[in-house]
Amino acid sequence: MPTPPIGREHILAWLHEENPERLEALWRLADQRRRECVGDEVHLRGLIEFSNVCGRQCAYCGLRQPNTKLRRYRMTADDVMASVREAERNGFGAVVLQSGEDPELDPSWLAGLVRRIRRETKLAITLSVGERAPEELRLWREAGADRYLLRFETSNPKLFASIHPGSVFSRLDLLRELGRLGYEVGSGVMIGIPGQSVDDLAGDILLFETLNLDMIGVGPFIPHPDTPFGRLDPKRWLDRPGQTPNSELMTYKVLALTRLVCPYANIPSTTALATLNPSQGHRLALSRGANVVMPNVTPARFREQYAIYPDKACIDVGADGALTDLASHLAAIGRTAGKGRGDSPNKGRRATDWTKRR
Ligand code: 5AD
Repeated sequence: MPTPPIGREHILAWLHEENPERLEALWRLADQRRRECVGDEVHLRGLIEFSNVCGRQCAYCGLRQPNTKLRRYRMTADDVMASVREAERNGFGAVVLQSGEDPELDPSWLAGLVRRIRRETKLAITLSVGERAPEELRLWREAGADRYLLRFETSNPKLFASIHPGSVFSRLDLLRELGRLGYEVGSGVMIGIPGQSVDDLAGDILLFETLNLDMIGVGPFIPHPDTPFGRLDPKRWLDRPGQTPNSELMTYKVLALTRLVCPYANIPSTTALATLNPSQGHRLALSRGANVVMPNVTPARFREQYAIYPDKACIDVGADGALTDLASHLAAIGRTAGKGRGDSPNKGRRATDWTKRR
């Protein structure tokens, strides 16, 4: 059933809504839209954090290059393949290869790894390796990568520039390039970045719609002590008029509104959200618009060094019985674990639209 498009005023009104009963209506709308457009399956992706080496100095991220407290690692191709097998054994439909923005990442090494996963498994392959040159994106696409995640983090260009020194490429240009290359395109934002207003956040949600994204991840900003933002006094930024709170509630609102503006997108319940509410975060997100979960399959010895922010929650697939738990949690909310790759229905519709336009 088509629903009327929701505009900026509407989005802002929901973002400012605090009444729990009225918010119930938003959760219900989002859950209904989710069911109609992407169904009851929850797609599982195995997250492989294959390197925490990063040359960037983003104000919020624990992997930033000046943070000397981390032991830096790069997994070997064989290590990565072992994690890929783990994802396969667990019946996941896709793997996400994620890393810091490693200036020494060899594009042909990654292309070789993508080819190997393609050859040896049926899994969909998602890359999440930051701002990279269009030639590299093309190389990896030709090697067989299906999807690419690159959050634009905020639609406010001034705020973006101030927290990401040294950007060479425009992320919005890269996202368009990814679409042209035939990737399923994913992006997203952090919620409650110091200096981010609720108006900015409304702009973020509208930009999801304009970009016609296939995958959208949103999560709360979580201060990391070894970053410039982690050293700010929370009172000084959180109390500023108009500032977006980095709260669990605000995250659910954005998640639900995102489902309403991009009904066919794949939307994960993110780790950052589960970090704020380890016992209920995933369940609530899945009932308020989300349809994807990304269990971590990075080997334990590397995982703790991938500290984007402190106390990162994760669904531990290594532990016996953890997945049975996940399946029963899903069953308890009337959902099932996805079978197959879990491609985004949005991409097919996007392609259809283009054909029509020709
Ligand atoms: N809190 C929450 N999310 C963060 N990310 C990076 N640092 C933080 C933080 N301190 C998110 C960014 C990035 C994704 C991989 O992790 O949005 O795109």
